[in-house]
Amino acid sequence: MGKLAITGGKPVRRKPFPAWPVYSNQEARALTQVLRSRNWGGYPFPNTHASAFAAKFAKAHGAGYGIALANGTVAIEVALRAIGVKPGDEVIVPAYTWEGTVGPVLLQNAVPVFLDVDPDTYCLDARLIERAITPKTRAILPVHLAMNFADLDEILRIARSRNIAVIEDCAHAHGGQWRGKGAGASGDFGCFSFQSSKLVTSGEGGAVITSNLELYERAQSYVNCGRASVTDEFRHRLIGFNYRITEFQAAILEAQLERLPKQAKTRRTNMGYFEKHLRGAPGLAFLKRDERTTRIAAYQYVFKYLRDHFGGIHRAAFLGALEMEGVPCDGLFYEPVYRSTLFPVDPADFPALSWNRTAPLNLKTLCHCPVSERAAYEEAVWLPHHIFLGSRNDTDDIADAVFKVCANINELRNLKHPAIDRKSMSRAERPRVEKRQW
Ligand SMILES: Cc1ncc(COP(=O)(O)O)c(C=O)c1O
Repeated sequence: MGKLAITGGKPVRRKPFPAWPVYSNQEARALTQVLRSRNWGGYPFPNTHASAFAAKFAKAHGAGYGIALANGTVAIEVALRAIGVKPGDEVIVPAYTWEGTVGPVLLQNAVPVFLDVDPDTYCLDARLIERAITPKTRAILPVHLAMNFADLDEILRIARSRNIAVIEDCAHAHGGQWRGKGAGASGDFGCFSFQSSKLVTSGEGGAVITSNLELYERAQSYVNCGRASVTDEFRHRLIGFNYRITEFQAAILEAQLERLPKQAKTRRTNMGYFEKHLRGAPGLAFLKRDERTTRIAAYQYVFKYLRDHFGGIHRAAFLGALEMEGVPCDGLFYEPVYRSTLFPVDPADFPALSWNRTAPLNLKTLCHCPVSERAAYEEAVWLPHHIFLGSRNDTDDIADAVFKVCANINELRNLKHPAIDRKSMSRAERPRVEKRQW
């Protein structure tokens, strides 16, 4: 029997961490009010709670207008559509992100151009953008993740001088600020997800924010089956779909948004404490904090496991052991989208991949993004935000578990265990074994 829980020792922690999502009577009252009103859907659009929430959400991020809608994937589709991405246009995306950042680009029959991420932030590496721009580049789609922002100064400089749109994927960045400006308010659009794991959630849901009335009107029409927007100053007419959010979701979101600042502060304090504790630990490395990120949005705490320091023991073993110590964690949270089994792109379905070419673009083999690949398959450790919503003692447990696994890493050599198998599974495979709702 070893010291580690995975080899039969006593785990650092048996108690669960604070549960997510958080709710109170406030959500219960809001849901009952909607129920009794019999006004449940998204139509008339935007409906009462959806409209109130979207306005508050946009204001909280420093944008002029907001639309609450069905989910974060659709939010990106709406933004692409509103800025006028056309078949054959190119959209620059980071390779290291959720597939939902990229799918909507293909859905427009546009071409995603994968770029690598910055090893210091895991966000789109702005130094690679200029080389990737072609006359067809229509938009840059940075994703703000791992408590960081993509370098918006550089991205906006490049985009503005070439009349290229910027759509910020803020699925991890609710309440975050870059140079004092809210996530999503610097680009032409900010796109948010309210899926169950997110910092503001209604189970499913999403939003776009913008300060451009014309884009807002186009987005509104697209979300509401092509109907005229509420203001209709620009009189755009386009084919739209039903991407409306329900009043139940919007009512929950109003309550969740009120709770965000206090939760965000607790998470930041605990994550800061955790990082201070761990910094300098041999074999672990940390992403850089950029002072232009004036308010951190802490969706997940991400650090690096340096396998070579641990005698080549694979990250999955480290993570399996950490989880058995009582700390939820992930490694294959994202893969470079082009390598993911959730991205089985077939050029027959997306004709633009073949236009003006002798052979269709093979998005699965076209790029090699070494930083994204290293993050995905070797080094990134993702800790979910809700485990940092507790006390300092809870945070000490997380750090103690990390130290304990590092100190006893040799127990993991050649070890076979179901917890390690689970940590080797891609997001595509997990529904077979995962009970967690998010
Ligand atoms: C970076 C990123 N972009 C987009 C999305 C899509 O959001 P949704 O799941 O609400 O469709 C997510 C959600 O997981 C995400 O993490």
